[in-house]
Amino acid sequence: MNFQLFLGSLEARHLADLRFSEVTRALRALSSAYVERRDTVVTEHRTLDGAGKRAAFALYYSPIHFVLVQQILAEVGAPARPGLVLDLGCGTGVAGAAVATTTTPPSRVLGIDTHPWALEEARFTYRALGLTGDVRRGYVARTRIPPDTSFVVAAFVVNELNEIDRRALLESLRAAVQRGTSVLIVEPISLRISPWWHEWAEAFAQIGGRADQWRFKYDPPLIVKRLARASGLRPESLTARSLFTRPA
Ligand SMILES: C[S@@+](CC[C@H](N)C(=O)[O-])C[C@H]1O[C@@H](n2cnc3c(N)ncnc32)[C@H](O)[C@@H]1O
Repeated sequence: MNFQLFLGSLEARHLADLRFSEVTRALRALSSAYVERRDTVVTEHRTLDGAGKRAAFALYYSPIHFVLVQQILAEVGAPARPGLVLDLGCGTGVAGAAVATTTTPPSRVLGIDTHPWALEEARFTYRALGLTGDVRRGYVARTRIPPDTSFVVAAFVVNELNEIDRRALLESLRAAVQRGTSVLIVEPISLRISPWWHEWAEAFAQIGGRADQWRFKYDPPLIVKRLARASGLRPESLTARSLFTRPA
């Protein structure tokens, strides 16, 4: 299935039992949770509580994150060969799917998340995009990176980890790079929620990686436009920062 059909199937799936106004109300609550109420809602993993917020996440953020990861890969270098993509904190699975669909044939993808809804949704994403994918419930920092992993992506999740988990993750990413794995970390542009960024950028530089900030022009699909308009959001440009490294 192509991306447009995937978006259509997301709409059918998430707007079946909810009114559009319920989703926009939830989208406002969700974006305010990410921006203003991180210390409670995000750290307590309550962002995906409730059908409205889940629908808002799937319909608004998923298409945006898919395209954003694709654009970043186009700049830093997509994987050269198919392999196994590990998506840490996969949410609806779009970051891993964006990486997996850059290779010919597409790579396999394994999504890891703590949230059962996210895992179900990631399964749907992989199926809808014709990918061979699987999901596991697990904590990012406790996930053993399979030795045959070709690419690890972690999008918008490292800022949700506590310091101990973040350090453990950095160590296991370093070890994975030594074994031949590429790693892409994507985070919001604001450093307010990621005071650890410079330390990670330094760690990536030491293993031959790069740190970037991005602003891409974006022509959102209709559903994203409608949700943005009704919720006062402006997705016409996509911003993010990323860390990327590939084995020498
Ligand atoms: C902001 S969402 C990002 C989802 C997806 N990566 C994307 O780019 O759209 C963060 C996801 O990380 C998951 N998450 C947060 N902390 C986690 C942890 N310690 N281990 C595994 N998943 C985690 C949440 O359940 C949520 O699905």
